[in-house]
Amino acid sequence: MDAIQQLTQYEADATAAIEAAADAPALEQVRIEFLGKKQGRLKDLQALLGQVPVDQKPVLGKRFNEVKDKVTSLLETRKAAVERPAAAVDGVDVTLPGTPFRYGHRHPISQTIDEFKAIMSRLGFDPVDGPEIEDERHNFDALNIPQDHPARDPLDNFYLSAAKTATGSPLLLRSQTSTVQIRVMEKTQPPIRIVSLGRVYRPDDMDDTHSCMFHQMEGLMIDTNVTMADLKTVLRLFATAYLGEDVVIRFRPSFFPFTEPSVEVDMRWGDRWLEIGGAGMVDPNVLETVGYDPEKVSGFAFGLGVERFAMRRFGVRDIRLFYENDVRFLRQF
Ligand code: PHE
Repeated sequence: MDAIQQLTQYEADATAAIEAAADAPALEQVRIEFLGKKQGRLKDLQALLGQVPVDQKPVLGKRFNEVKDKVTSLLETRKAAVERPAAAVDGVDVTLPGTPFRYGHRHPISQTIDEFKAIMSRLGFDPVDGPEIEDERHNFDALNIPQDHPARDPLDNFYLSAAKTATGSPLLLRSQTSTVQIRVMEKTQPPIRIVSLGRVYRPDDMDDTHSCMFHQMEGLMIDTNVTMADLKTVLRLFATAYLGEDVVIRFRPSFFPFTEPSVEVDMRWGDRWLEIGGAGMVDPNVLETVGYDPEKVSGFAFGLGVERFAMRRFGVRDIRLFYENDVRFLRQF
């Protein structure tokens, strides 16, 4: 075998050995064998080169350098490959960038409810819960709503067909959170300062501001000498705490069977007024029904639409977006 053939043989052997080396230690062995400075096959070839006739030296020297560079660079490349940590596990390249994971978060209405509770607790109102399935006593009777009042119309309420109370009277999905006023007053003596946040149900036609299920925040304060001024103050404090100092709300005279006097509360939104709820001084009949003395205690109550506030805060023009659970919408919050 002449020197050129030996160089070619060396190149082929080195290439095969580098490819076969599975890890860094094996590759280091290959490096020592083929490129080792003290001993090793390249060193032997170099010695051989010294012995060839002078006229062959340029050609052989060129080929020698070529082979040496090639083997060196193959080794470097292979080294980088075996040192990459677990580059391929079961055929999966774990060094590839992953698919980013999106965190979920609470629904905007749940966020709003949490914030309402936090604001009201700073004003001294404790949160309480009440049932969504109610009897007529808590949804109507105790709230001073007469038997023939249109609010009781089956067309305006979700009466349950499958269930009744133990005594056989109707049950319905509550149409207002005012039910919780009664439940609290039945069990508790004044002073009372509570809020109750939850779902209410009405068979309304759905549109951009109406839904057959929505959320209300009921507020109730009973004590000696509670006045309409307290009601207006609490509502203004609440509205500005949630929406900012520049929010404008107004009170319009209205009527509810369970408050006297009663108001409706509107909030300015752009160039129009958006109704946000009802309120008033708790009617003496209601106080008597729960066993309070209307001569000794007085109080106010309010019921606000949670979605109306959230729409204004988040600039959402269609209430239905809150219930469709389209993640493209929900992600914005
Ligand atoms: N329950 C009334 C409604 O749903 C709102 C309200 C609550 C009014 C408390 C007065 C006092 O429309």
